[in-house]
Amino acid sequence: MKAVVLVGGSGTRLRPLTTPIPKPMLPVVNRPFLEHVIEHLKQYGLDDIVLLVCYRHEVIQEYFGDGRDRGVAITYVVEEKGPLGTAGAVKNAESLLTETFVVCNGDILTDLNLEVMMAFHREKQARATISLAPVDDPTAYGLVQLADGRRVERFVEKPSWDEVTTNLINAGTYILEPGVLRYVPPETRFLFERGLFPMLLQVGNSVYGYPSTAYWLDIGTPDDYLRAHRDILTGQIDVNIPGRREGDVWLGDDVRIDPTARIRGPAVIGNGCVIGPQVRINGPAAIGDGCHLDEGTFIEDAVLWQRVTVARQVVLRHCVIANDCTLGDNVLVTDSSLVGAGCTIGEGNRLERGLQLGPGRTLEPEAIRF
Ligand code: GDD
Ligand code: MG
Repeated sequence: MKAVVLVGGSGTRLRPLTTPIPKPMLPVVNRPFLEHVIEHLKQYGLDDIVLLVCYRHEVIQEYFGDGRDRGVAITYVVEEKGPLGTAGAVKNAESLLTETFVVCNGDILTDLNLEVMMAFHREKQARATISLAPVDDPTAYGLVQLADGRRVERFVEKPSWDEVTTNLINAGTYILEPGVLRYVPPETRFLFERGLFPMLLQVGNSVYGYPSTAYWLDIGTPDDYLRAHRDILTGQIDVNIPGRREGDVWLGDDVRIDPTARIRGPAVIGNGCVIGPQVRINGPAAIGDGCHLDEGTFIEDAVLWQRVTVARQVVLRHCVIANDCTLGDNVLVTDSSLVGAGCTIGEGNRLERGLQLGPGRTLEPEAIRF
């Protein structure tokens, strides 16, 4: 059976992190997120994978190639003329989809049992089965209202609060019969959520919802991207974390830690990192390969990508710093602030309140002090 993964979106809510790379390539516990998705599919024998790519697709293609290194076979279908939307993108791959197939959004962290979902799909003889997850706030997702026997009665994509009638939302994994794609117009922007699914209900196709209590998170906002790290590192979902485990700290190769530094997990520290004197790391934290942290720096609930150089007495709390950034003495980055790749932040700058610094920016010393 084939698995089709939607990875063509432009990840606007995670800019500037997604300016140079697509959302599924953002590192999560020091590995591109899509690796975790592929490993989850592989666990269920889904090793024939179609990636529906559009935004910055070359980054994905270069990294994963034909998938052989990871024990899967990857085929790419590129939306050359711009994004076709979720269903339009799958329609674009229709010639590859001749039997029942799985579709997943490429930004979902989950341990959903796909085998049990498949058995449900077969038992119901469904044309489409949609995985559902309970959430506290359905307004950011697609609400799915079920009738008896778990038949889908109604979809409301991004409902307002007065439209909320259930806490179950579309969890972004579907099992589909190929025939449903005939309702999707070719080469036209078309969505599952607002287009195909409501249409299938209208024409009387059997669409079922499959609620589950599996771990589920959409990593698509800064807070949820950070939360994915916290949940993985605290063991709420079982995901491969790179490095040698010592208690709740995963250490890469050739890491140098000054004896006066204090690391409290859970944390993952990549290859070749240098942790200077009096540095304090309070997990959850993920520090990518080749980072250098100088004296007295404090890191808590933060994610640093690769080759980030941090000077003295820097505070990084609940924030993300992308590749190749250089931070001067006494810099502070907090409150879901995001620093794009290749930034140079002069000493004494304070980036707070969700500030987003675009890639390649240089901040003179003390340019931002709220
Ligand atoms: N190839 C391709 N082409 N992929 C796309 C396109 C497109 O035009 N548009 C979006 N995608 C991919 C994104 O890269 C992402 O992996 C996935 O489809 C979902 O897109 P998001 O933009 O993250 O959608 P969302 O999170 O607002 O809403 C969707 O997911 C929710 C669950 O997280 C909907 O399916 C909701 O109904 C659902 O509740
Ligand atoms: Mg999403």
